[in-house]
Amino acid sequence: MNVRFASDRPTGAYALALPVRGDDLLTDRLASLPAGDRTLVARAAESQRFERELGAVAETFVAEGDAVRRLILVGLGSSRDEAALWERVGGALTAKLLTSGETRLVVDLTGLDVSADDAARLAFAAAARSWRYDIYRTKQPKKQKPTLEEIVIVGAGEGAEGAWGDRQALLDGLSFTRELVTEPANIIYPETFVERCRKRMEPLGVEIEVLDEKRMAELGFGALLGVGQGSVRPPRLLVLKWNGGGEGGKPVALVGKGITFDTGGISIKPAAGMESMKWDMGGAGAVAGAMVALASRKAKANVVAVCALAENMPDGNAQRPGDVVTSLSGQTIEVINTDAEGRLVLGDALTWVQREHKPEVIVDLATLTGAMVISLGHEYAGIFSNDDGLAGQLLAAGTETGDRLWRMPMGDAYDKLIESPIADMKNVGPREGGSITAAVFLQRFIESGVKWAHLDIAGMAWSDKAANLYDKGATGFGVALLDRFVAANFER
Ligand code: BES
Ligand code: MN
Ligand code: ZN
Repeated sequence: MNVRFASDRPTGAYALALPVRGDDLLTDRLASLPAGDRTLVARAAESQRFERELGAVAETFVAEGDAVRRLILVGLGSSRDEAALWERVGGALTAKLLTSGETRLVVDLTGLDVSADDAARLAFAAAARSWRYDIYRTKQPKKQKPTLEEIVIVGAGEGAEGAWGDRQALLDGLSFTRELVTEPANIIYPETFVERCRKRMEPLGVEIEVLDEKRMAELGFGALLGVGQGSVRPPRLLVLKWNGGGEGGKPVALVGKGITFDTGGISIKPAAGMESMKWDMGGAGAVAGAMVALASRKAKANVVAVCALAENMPDGNAQRPGDVVTSLSGQTIEVINTDAEGRLVLGDALTWVQREHKPEVIVDLATLTGAMVISLGHEYAGIFSNDDGLAGQLLAAGTETGDRLWRMPMGDAYDKLIESPIADMKNVGPREGGSITAAVFLQRFIESGVKWAHLDIAGMAWSDKAANLYDKGATGFGVALLDRFVAANFER
């Protein structure tokens, strides 16, 4: 979606949206219309039971010369500091108009005293909500195809263009994540995940390094390679580096679980719903999208992202329950359940990034456990951290962006639950507290002194229902969060 800011309404065809606050005089908001239209619009709104609730819309058509203009009233509610107010407005307008036949939307904020930043938020939400991926639909009826191409914001505060620049970068990152997450597993597997990232990010100045299975075998990535060995698609470790922060500064490390398909392996999952495991690379997708956002807005920070990419399949060469693997850290792991594969690939990726880049701070994102979805549903991702300061920074970024996090506990009592009779640890604990035993498993790969947070995004990467910023499907959860986290804490 094309976004523009202007001081006056353009000429030509467009749908006009007028936001209305609960306490506005409707006649004030309609002052720009001919007197007859004001009455018509006010009555039409009333007959649609429009009460200016936040995000509510009422629709009227008015004559404009020989043409007809679609006029949308959109409610702003009665509280001015409602969280995500402008996001809700932008999302509601797109939901209403995306496939309406209109190609252009003009939102007139004149007289509402809307800041540049809020106007940019509105535009961002409208554009984010319009994202879809229809490349595999060859028979889509014309009526179902999106028509809306451009949104023009009129009458926003000074500097809206500038505020939009960073939002555009974020939108690019978000879209890239959604694309990776939406693509099926016959299209996106470790090698093609790498190639998509290369194509998208090299032009932005992101440095790319790839470890193939041969290199990982030489180095001793026993845990990651064990997960990938049942697949004909070889695993990869993808490293993305953005050096916007000048020489010598230690980087922030982002690590993502990139299981491009999770059958469960020999501990195979039930058939019902298994197709959703194409998005088991949502953590890797989020860190990749965050790198697109950071590079696109030339963030003044050094960030290294590592995507641990493998496909978890059951074949004659697959690892078995009971196998013992030696991780890159040297610690041995008894693989009780081959479906607890995310923690195995992440363990090696965490070791590698600490050895290679000596980060002070690591944040990992993973669709790690079904238990996380049982705990928090689809409202919050779980955050586990060994550092209260870091947890606070991430929680704040979550609140500000709407990628909300809820802190979960760790501790020795949980750690005991993954002791193994044959190896240094086993890869699963009991059913109870399943997200926590997964987190303390990862913690065993964190060196002392390193601040680390693990975000279990299993309930958040995909949505079965539409929201302000997305339609059903890939949400892009984590991209805005990471972008804000870096901006607020690491940029010089
Ligand atoms: N990718 C799954 C977790 C998952 C489940 C993500 C549902 C999103 C929705 C993960 O690899 C997995 O299979 N975890 C197991 C762990 C268990 C075997 C200890 C789980 O949660 O059942
Ligand atoms: Mn699994
Ligand atoms: Zn998985």
